[in-house]
Parts: sequence; structure tokens; C-alpha cells
Amino acid sequence: MKNIFLIGYMGTGKSSVAAHMAKAYGMEVVEMDEMIVCREGMSISDIFAKHGEEYFRDAETKLLKEICLQDNKVVSCGGGVVLRKQNAEEMRKGGMIVLLSAKAETILERVKDDDNRPLLAGNKTIAFISEMMEKRREKYEGAADIIIQTDNKSVVDICEEIIERIKMMGE
Ligand code: S3P
Repeated sequence: MKNIFLIGYMGTGKSSVAAHMAKAYGMEVVEMDEMIVCREGMSISDIFAKHGEEYFRDAETKLLKEICLQDNKVVSCGGGVVLRKQNAEEMRKGGMIVLLSAKAETILERVKDDDNRPLLAGNKTIAFISEMMEKRREKYEGAADIIIQTDNKSVVDICEEIIERIKMMGE
């Protein structure tokens, strides 16, 4: 099986879906943010604060290139991975790109108690999230092979939907 790249805005459930996909379908999970944190030896918030966003984006691109050389991985991508066109091109060569989407209300509920998303620090409002999602919409949708709405769905249902859609694409 080729890789499955889960993309989407922060709080769309990429990590939970990746963990379940891996367990249910015998794939290996790659958590991009976690790997970057491990390599840099500091939290995402500290990377942004100490080195800036561009440094983080470079680390993200470097890691993505490495992942794309492998297969059978379900990759939980950082929410901003589509900001670089080059990243979307790498993912397309390396597997299938699945966009998880959700309403701003759902996202706010999922991220409200998390302090490790520097781009949302002090910005946890429906208005901010909606505007930022809207700015990124074209990039998310343009990169995606498959788009899955996640509002009010369980992780199990989302995973089944992803597998169904992938099978349909192969037919
Ligand atoms: C980001 C999303 C985060 C993390 C970083 C930047 C973004 O990942 O990579 O804070 O630009 O959307 P999650 O989507 O896993 O929260």
C-alpha cells in the first residue's frame, strides 16, 4: 500500500484518525509534528518562538521528503503542510492525499484546551479560525485526492469512509 497523507486544518482529527487507521489496517503511523519535536528537542511553540515559522516549515519539508521515500505509512501531517506547493507535489508522488475538514465550531471545541498551537495562541475564536481556514481552503482542496467531512462522525466511521473512497478510486 502506498502512503496515506492526512491533511487539514488544526483540530480536524488527523492524529486520531491516523492512529486508528494504523491499528485497523496494519499501517505504520508517522506523526509529523511529533517527529519534528523529537528532532529539535523542543515543543512546537518553542520552535516557533526561538527559530520562527520559516525554520519550522523547512523542517517540515525536509521530513516530508524523507517520508515520501517510504511506503505503507499513514501520515498525520501538520496543518500547514499544504502552504508550500512543493510539499503537495511531494505527497502526490508519495501516495494518496486525504483532506479532513470540519466546521470552525467543531475545530474550536477540539483545540480550545490546547496550548501547543502557536498560530492559535490568543486567537481561539470562531472568527479567527474561519478566516484562516478560508485563506487556506484553496490549498487544502487543491492538494486533496479525497475530501472527508468529519463533523459529528466517529473516528471509526471516518476511517471506513477513507478506505471506501480509496477503493472506489482504484476501480
Ligand atoms: C500548524 C499546525 C500544527 C503544527 C503547527 C502549525 C498549521 O499541526 O504543525 O502548529 O500551520 O496549521 P496540527 O494540525 O497537527 O495541529
